[in-house]
Amino acid sequence: MNKTIALLPGDGIGKEVMFGAEEILKAIGEQYHHTFTFQYGRIGGDALDHTGEPLPSETLEICKKSDAVLLGAVGGPKWEENSPELRPEKGLLKLRKELNLYANIRPVKAYESLADHSPFKREVVNGVDMVIVRELTGGLYFGKPSERQFTKGEESAVDTLFYSKKEVRRIIKTAFEMAQTRRKKVTSVDKANVLESSRMWRETAEEISKEFPEVTLEHMLVDNAAMQLLKNPSQFDVIVTENMFGDILSDEASVLTGSLGMLPSASLSEGGLHLYEPVHGSAPDIAGKNLSNPLAMILSAAMMLRMSFGLEAEAEVIENAVERVLDGGKLTSDLAKGNAGVLTTQQMIEEVKVCIADNDAILSIMEAYA
Ligand code: IPM
Ligand code: MN
Repeated sequence: MNKTIALLPGDGIGKEVMFGAEEILKAIGEQYHHTFTFQYGRIGGDALDHTGEPLPSETLEICKKSDAVLLGAVGGPKWEENSPELRPEKGLLKLRKELNLYANIRPVKAYESLADHSPFKREVVNGVDMVIVRELTGGLYFGKPSERQFTKGEESAVDTLFYSKKEVRRIIKTAFEMAQTRRKKVTSVDKANVLESSRMWRETAEEISKEFPEVTLEHMLVDNAAMQLLKNPSQFDVIVTENMFGDILSDEASVLTGSLGMLPSASLSEGGLHLYEPVHGSAPDIAGKNLSNPLAMILSAAMMLRMSFGLEAEAEVIENAVERVLDGGKLTSDLAKGNAGVLTTQQMIEEVKVCIADNDAILSIMEAYA
């Protein structure tokens, strides 16, 4: 298979984790005879520093000419004082909008070997395996007006939570389709006791659920969902929710896995050009210190192989390698409790590579797909 992949490392640890994804993809390409061509683009603060814009048109062009996009992370203290249009985050938001990446798929899976590394009791995190389907191109992030206002000497500010029915239908349908391939349960999260947009969301979920008789639908208010995620997280299969609610709940849910450094994501478009990025940010405090956890980025690359290229077996080889590294007690500093045996970013990448090259373990996976 020949594929062109746009790599947008961005800022902070984005660069080092992207290096990890690239190394792993090269290893997979060599082992399974695929040609992956990498095209690099700037985004976020890195792009601001070099071009004055958070999403230069060259970057957008590179993405549009590629078969899939991998993104590291954007943001950092250096650009914190920038005007709203010139913030690194604007680059990512624009890219999501330009590529119409409406569905952000964030799987949250608790690894057996990490159960004691999460702040929760083993009984709570055991069996956690959910997907958060976050709407990504609407809601509070994009509604207009979004501005500062000055009326009669009074300062005020407004953001708008707007959704068209069409946008809501589209994301809820995606969630139902996903649930159909899993445990067949959708939890639609809203704030229908207060917000009109949520009441429309809830009605829409009911309408879509009629098209999926095998899937159970439940509604949950977002404040309760935040609590249930910590109290009884294994009740969830597919959660579908508005952009901002999904942003908050997915960071919260990451704690169940032991670290935000473990969570990959896929952002899907209708046209088929998808983007994959870790859920974590640019972590400026540890950037450049070889301390970051590259696994969320590497697992995002695995999601790309599966969802964009249909390379299910290769995706599983990576996921299986990650699991074996963790089972072996090899952890980066975000996961390790003490300092003994802590791996650097580079060492973690190497460990995953070694597991990928271990033919015995992967042969059975490949045979299953032969
Ligand atoms: C995420 C991030 C972004 C978001 C930021 C960087 C704009 O937190 O992908 O979750 O809020 O969507
Ligand atoms: Mn976030």
